[in-house]
Amino acid sequence: MIILRNSEELKTWIERHRSSGKTIGFVPTMGALHEGHISLVRQSKLENDVTIVSVFVNPTQFNNPEDLKKYPRTEEADGQLLEQAGVEVVFFPTVETIYPEGQKSTHFNFQGIENQMEGKFRPGHFDGVATVVQKFFEIVQPDRAYFGEKDFQQLRIIQELVKQKRLPLQIVPVAIMRESDGLAMSSRNTRLSQDMRKEAPNIYQILQKAKVFLEDHSVEETKEFVSEAFSKTKLKLEYFEIADESTLESVSTNSDSRKIRGFIAVFADDIRLIDNISLN
Ligand code: PAF
Repeated sequence: MIILRNSEELKTWIERHRSSGKTIGFVPTMGALHEGHISLVRQSKLENDVTIVSVFVNPTQFNNPEDLKKYPRTEEADGQLLEQAGVEVVFFPTVETIYPEGQKSTHFNFQGIENQMEGKFRPGHFDGVATVVQKFFEIVQPDRAYFGEKDFQQLRIIQELVKQKRLPLQIVPVAIMRESDGLAMSSRNTRLSQDMRKEAPNIYQILQKAKVFLEDHSVEETKEFVSEAFSKTKLKLEYFEIADESTLESVSTNSDSRKIRGFIAVFADDIRLIDNISLN
């Protein structure tokens, strides 16, 4: 595995491999890697000749400066995990490499997807995500790029970005990886106190119960059920929404044929965790 920090060197490496007919799989990450990221790498390795992983904590997608400051950074361990996983190149750019003209996001319009849920609670977040991902796509020009379904709204935003900009690459969604107690894997889990780590599996347990509850209750009743269930835990519910998988607009009934999902954000002390579940 080679480690590159400079985008010109990366472009040269990619050009050499592309001109010999190799396909390129790309996994963008913010580091603090875990099995969830490695599942994206595994998928990429199955489908491409070479896999490139970027590790970059993108400042423009953090609406909360404290969150950016506390975001775990574990470069050495990340490098080791990626080497074991058989990645060909890891790209560790600096902020100046990615934002030579200052840390600014482009403003995007994704037909309203960007304004729902995470977009509402984290203003500017998706502009930051789409800005950095577009920059990475320009540098790497992958054949396929891999995104986890844990950040389902992010995945939809990236699919729209690719459609809007007519980028010649395939976005591959990868299912959520969970700990044995059901907690969705996340870099933020490492920051949970022992007490909150015990509470956190409630998120997926309540989502599963909500799925069953919705079978013979209304959307409104299911939301109340979820809110009440969280009031009995130490977690603080920020939102629970039942939304159309494609538009991410909230639905008020579960009676039609569209695909819907339950989306949730909670606080475990000051650590914000998200998760989602398919509901039909
Ligand atoms: O999901 C993430 O880790 C980040 O949002 C991404 C896609 C790497 C962009 O910074």
